[in-house]
Amino acid sequence: MKNFITIEGCDGVGKTFQTRLFKEYCQQNGIDHIVFTREPGGSNIAEQIRGIILDANNSEMDDLCEAFLYASARIQHLHDIVKPALAQGKVVFCDRFVDSSYVYQGLGRNLGLQKIIDLNALAVGEYMPEFTIFLDLSPQKAFERKGGADVTDRLENVDFSFHQQVYDGYKLLIEQDPDRFEVIDASGTIEETQQKLREVLIRRGIL
Ligand code: TYD
Repeated sequence: MKNFITIEGCDGVGKTFQTRLFKEYCQQNGIDHIVFTREPGGSNIAEQIRGIILDANNSEMDDLCEAFLYASARIQHLHDIVKPALAQGKVVFCDRFVDSSYVYQGLGRNLGLQKIIDLNALAVGEYMPEFTIFLDLSPQKAFERKGGADVTDRLENVDFSFHQQVYDGYKLLIEQDPDRFEVIDASGTIEETQQKLREVLIRRGIL
């Protein structure tokens, strides 16, 4: 869908931070045609669903139930925020979207990529992003950058393979649909990555 842009990446790559920086840049430069939003959540009902999904007390949640809740939040978020904004001629810049479900639920949680594609086809319909920015940083590097050796060790023991599967999943999606993805190397400084992000948006005619 034209003017619908999403940004994706593994946990800890600085995706949300980069989005905030870009939003501030837009505010400071009078750029007001871009609506910033995020998933899961982004609107009242969708944020309530987010609360259920991310509640640490719900650790016994079935993986398929979780996948349906992400898709449900997505339907509501599209209805409340994305579709109205696009209809008004705005650009929508969304922090995570359906690719997160493909890789986290489909591959990370091992529900199967095709199952999650099918499930989400109903939720997303024709509202696939015009393009998707992927902030490329391996989980290993992300954890090193965040907390050093201790954190790396702890996460390696607990769920490092999960994050690796998610990263490999993104790489698979990019391989299958290279034209939809804008891959940005996120291993440099915050400013370098921000610069690259803006360059992509200029080249794509958004800025
Ligand atoms: P988020 O708050 O965006 O975390 P971050 O700032 O680290 O990107 O997302 C919360 C978690 O939700 C994140 O670990 C990814 C996960 N998620 C899914 O598993 N499936 C989905 O469809 C979406 C949108 C997010």
